[in-house]
Amino acid sequence: MAHLDAYNRPISYLRISVTDRCNLRCVYCMPPEGVPWRPHEEILRYEEIETVVRAAAELGISKVRLTGGEPLVRLGIVDLVRSLARIPGIDDLAMTTNGILLGRYAADLAAAGLRRVNISLDTLRPDRFRRITRLGRMEDVLVGMEAARRAGLEPIKINTVVIRGMNDDEVVDFARKTMETGWNVRFIELMPVGNGVLADGGWREKVVTAREIRQRIEAALGRLEPAKVSVGNGPARCYRLPGAQGTLGFITPISEHFCYRCNRLRLTADGQLRPCLLSDYEIDLRTPLRQGADVAQIKALLLRGIENKPLRHHLDERRRPEKRVMSEIGG
Ligand code: 5AD
Ligand code: SF4
Repeated sequence: MAHLDAYNRPISYLRISVTDRCNLRCVYCMPPEGVPWRPHEEILRYEEIETVVRAAAELGISKVRLTGGEPLVRLGIVDLVRSLARIPGIDDLAMTTNGILLGRYAADLAAAGLRRVNISLDTLRPDRFRRITRLGRMEDVLVGMEAARRAGLEPIKINTVVIRGMNDDEVVDFARKTMETGWNVRFIELMPVGNGVLADGGWREKVVTAREIRQRIEAALGRLEPAKVSVGNGPARCYRLPGAQGTLGFITPISEHFCYRCNRLRLTADGQLRPCLLSDYEIDLRTPLRQGADVAQIKALLLRGIENKPLRHHLDERRRPEKRVMSEIGG
């Protein structure tokens, strides 16, 4: 059974950033030159991550997601998946990726025990994809998506951060994909985190709320009906266009915080337990791990994190996390 935090939320989900590095430089996440990567010795080793996940599983955490940066740029990632998939109690192992390397890895990841992937894709136009990610080719993501589908890493979800003036004119095109190809698309409101061009102001004007996105889609394609997604519904509110195979979701950290039903803890790439993405409160796990802490000792630290998980974020009062960039924490 999952542990309850101080506000009665069952904590069943651990998100792990396995690297702060990335093969893209999305404009809302990083400056063109990238962010200084952390040195290798600061990044948790795979055995250390495994110890944390064993401890988490003993506390009733049953779902793990690997993120980054970009998890697929870390060497040996398939081995990590294999070792985590074997841990008793972990029954849902997923990954969030930008999809660029999925064509190469999807089959091996599935064979190693990965269940499914979320793929970040902010545009359907190749030229714009290059402008937003600075380095990527959209075609690679589409190839990756197809490889994931063939490998059975399903249901695949597409994460789309909507930014005014950048891709908000494509929300209806994304919605059409749920009808034409059965995609499951989740629109994410832009958060004032990260270290890209939006870091220096003008963030609020760039936010497109779920309500506005929904209105635009309904005006073009008809009314959305509430939908159930088979697994891992997370913080998204899900809908379906009439007759569509795929679903549309909205993740609304800005217009409607969902902290009261948050079930997750995070582990940063450098081994800090972070109970809330948007709070700088952290517990150092790396130091004890390197001093030889065992599963029981890590369990005690995870429990402390659960007990101290903040009630909610305070973005609306203009209080923002400052210590880190998104690629270290994992989106
Ligand atoms: N606001 C909202 N989502 C973001 N992501 C990265 N930075 C932000 C931000 N500032 C998303 C990525 C990816 C997920 C891991 O987090 O696009 O879908
Ligand atoms: Fe990489 Fe994700 Fe940041 Fe884009 S948003 S640069 S894919 S970590």
